[in-house]
Amino acid sequence: MSDRLLCVRDLSISFSQYGKGLKHFVSTPIKSLSVEIKKGEILAIVGASGSGKSLLAHAIMDILPPNAMVKGEISYKEKVLDKKNIGALRGTEIAFIPQSVNYLDPFMKVKNQVGIGLHETKERNRQLQEALFEKYGLKKTDGELYPYQLSGGMLRRVLFATCVKQGIQLIIADEPTPGIHKEALDMVLKQLRDFADQGMGVMLITHDIISAVRIADYISVFKDGANIETAPANFFEGKGERLKEQYTRNLWLALPQNEFLRGEANGIGS
Ligand SMILES: Nc1ncnc2c1ncn2[C@@H]1O[C@H](COP(=O)(O)OP(=O)(O)O)[C@@H](O)[C@H]1O
Ligand SMILES: [Mg+2]
Repeated sequence: MSDRLLCVRDLSISFSQYGKGLKHFVSTPIKSLSVEIKKGEILAIVGASGSGKSLLAHAIMDILPPNAMVKGEISYKEKVLDKKNIGALRGTEIAFIPQSVNYLDPFMKVKNQVGIGLHETKERNRQLQEALFEKYGLKKTDGELYPYQLSGGMLRRVLFATCVKQGIQLIIADEPTPGIHKEALDMVLKQLRDFADQGMGVMLITHDIISAVRIADYISVFKDGANIETAPANFFEGKGERLKEQYTRNLWLALPQNEFLRGEANGIGS
């Protein structure tokens, strides 16, 4: 059996919109995008803001707005994902950590958000949920809160707890580390690596290349809704000699810590 969990082929996403004077137009922010993730693997998606990272995640989870038109194929465990089967997989086999907590149900208590997809008895679900809360440093009483009552850090912990349910095989984390301090960042990255080491597939969406290089197996660089290059994470080293595309190399060399290499790569000081 193939150990491929997710395969996205030639994905395009267009939006039917109305502009000034109610003029109808179609924008296509995602064009011919292809990615895949195997069991035990972290694929990092890096790219500037607006490059289409969240749209890809939303297309996989089938939570795009109604005016979105999707072409191409998304399959999970070699079966095409469609409106009929994604519903049953969401939260049971595929976990989504959204970029914005607005994707959590604002009317559902935190303990129940974590519980979604636990197919056990009520009592067993409660025990599992409490064990998860303890693991993630949340108090028992935190479960009684609603999402708006939690701090950003607590919310992230709740979201991570939703991923460790039995049965979860693919995790899609959309920018789980914005603006967090180093210690919290290290914890989130370690957690994602642990998930992968347990055999899950992880899509880590981020604009932090350094974090991606630290934990990912592959890095896919997005620009304007297309992937410029997908390379093993260890190709992002030195002057980026093993990277195929100049754009990817420039992105790597543009990092502040590569300032010295940048000069060398441009022939200065060599
Ligand atoms: N509902 C929408 N209607 C029209 N355009 C959209 C919609 N959602 C996103 N876009 C456009 O798609 C592009 C990619 O968005 P997004 O995937 O959110 O970027 P990223 O997550 O990489 O910052 C952006 O240019 C954005 O304006
Ligand atoms: Mg985004």
